[in-house]
Amino acid sequence: MRSFPFVPGSPTLPIARAEGAWLHLPDGRRVLDAAGGAIVANVGHGRREIADAVARALEQASYLVPPFASESRLALLEELRRHWLPPALSRIALVSGGSESVDAALRLARQHHVAAGRPERWKMIGRDLSYHGATLATLAVGGHDKRRAGLEPLLADWPKAPPHYCLRCPLGCTRAACDLACVDAVERLIEREGPETVAAVIAEPVVGSAAGALVPPDDYWPRLAAICRRHGVLLIADEVMSGFGRTGRAFAVDHWGVVPDILVGGKGLSGGYAPMGGVYATDAVLAPLAARGDDFMFYTYGAHPASCAAALAVLRILEREQLVARAAAAGKRLLDRLRAALAEHPHVAEVRGLGLLLGVELVRDRATNEPFPSAAKLASRVVTAGLGRGVFFYPAGAGAARDVVCLGPPFTIGDEEIELVARVLPAAIDDAVRAAG
Ligand SMILES: Cc1ncc(COP(=O)(O)O)c(C=O)c1O
Repeated sequence: MRSFPFVPGSPTLPIARAEGAWLHLPDGRRVLDAAGGAIVANVGHGRREIADAVARALEQASYLVPPFASESRLALLEELRRHWLPPALSRIALVSGGSESVDAALRLARQHHVAAGRPERWKMIGRDLSYHGATLATLAVGGHDKRRAGLEPLLADWPKAPPHYCLRCPLGCTRAACDLACVDAVERLIEREGPETVAAVIAEPVVGSAAGALVPPDDYWPRLAAICRRHGVLLIADEVMSGFGRTGRAFAVDHWGVVPDILVGGKGLSGGYAPMGGVYATDAVLAPLAARGDDFMFYTYGAHPASCAAALAVLRILEREQLVARAAAAGKRLLDRLRAALAEHPHVAEVRGLGLLLGVELVRDRATNEPFPSAAKLASRVVTAGLGRGVFFYPAGAGAARDVVCLGPPFTIGDEEIELVARVLPAAIDDAVRAAG
């Protein structure tokens, strides 16, 4: 097709259909989707009951403005409140994807302070090595150098805290002598900016595509939450990639017992069957807007009936098949197998992750952690090599963590498929290193 892909010459792959954890090509070959698309397909591909639920919802109502109450909308809200969200996150706005949900959360944080009589609070603090979306506001609050490149003049210059990137600690700490200076740095940043000017801190509980499954030390999130509380700053947890079971708990913040003021999700909520994201906030966040009668503007396609029906069906499958527990178990098995397969690999610096959100960081020199040159695009080469060997991985990484291969297969992945991944990845890395010269 002459008009596809959008940027002429960029890579593409013909797909005839997808089922379970497999992508089927028109020529009869099949590829294991070890990335669940873009870490999305949590319940796997091709579930007939989800397609049927979407069809039924569209027969009832093809489109309704977001504030109207349809059966599939109300049922989804009820399901989210009863079985998924921490009880404190009782206010729900449904949108069409991850970037929209983060953008809406930033807007909500600002509107909260304005309505509460604190119009001087407007700054959004993000972190280096983070990704929150591709709109201008979400790129601005994110710290993904490759995706921001060239757009900087259009991006608000918001303050950034250092990440918990222990492999190359930006603060020079070692794992043995780490007292979480990086989380204290968030507090110092708030103090430097002036707490009375800061609206929110946004962070991914497990950093996704900017650093490839970077898991924080256990105390990080409880301390981050305490810092935000101390300074009257809202805490936004971006769980677009880590939410809805991906890390082996409903949400990644559940691992540390933290309830943020605002949580955003996307991807796994509808498992890729329809575009959907969500903003989940406490009563306290919405109360000042309600008191003043302020609106919170919706997006036209927010809470679309097809997406609500898809998400409801996905959540029910996750529960019925106990797939969140399965993500925890399969994730541990995949992590162990990858660690064993790559333990001696000269170009693997670290194999990391939580549940089924995993990353393998590649370096030129394992002894010094010297990365490959950016121009080598090593993670992308591994993805190409993996496809040639029948497995799809997801290229990730930014800044100093520039080459990470991400894995995020459907929670239904079986033991034989895990073995295939552990066999193919070392070979794909070798192919890529050879091709990079
Ligand atoms: C943590 C995080 N936030 C936001 C986004 C943006 O989501 P979307 O691509 O659905 O707009 C992503 C996408 O990868 C993400 O991983």
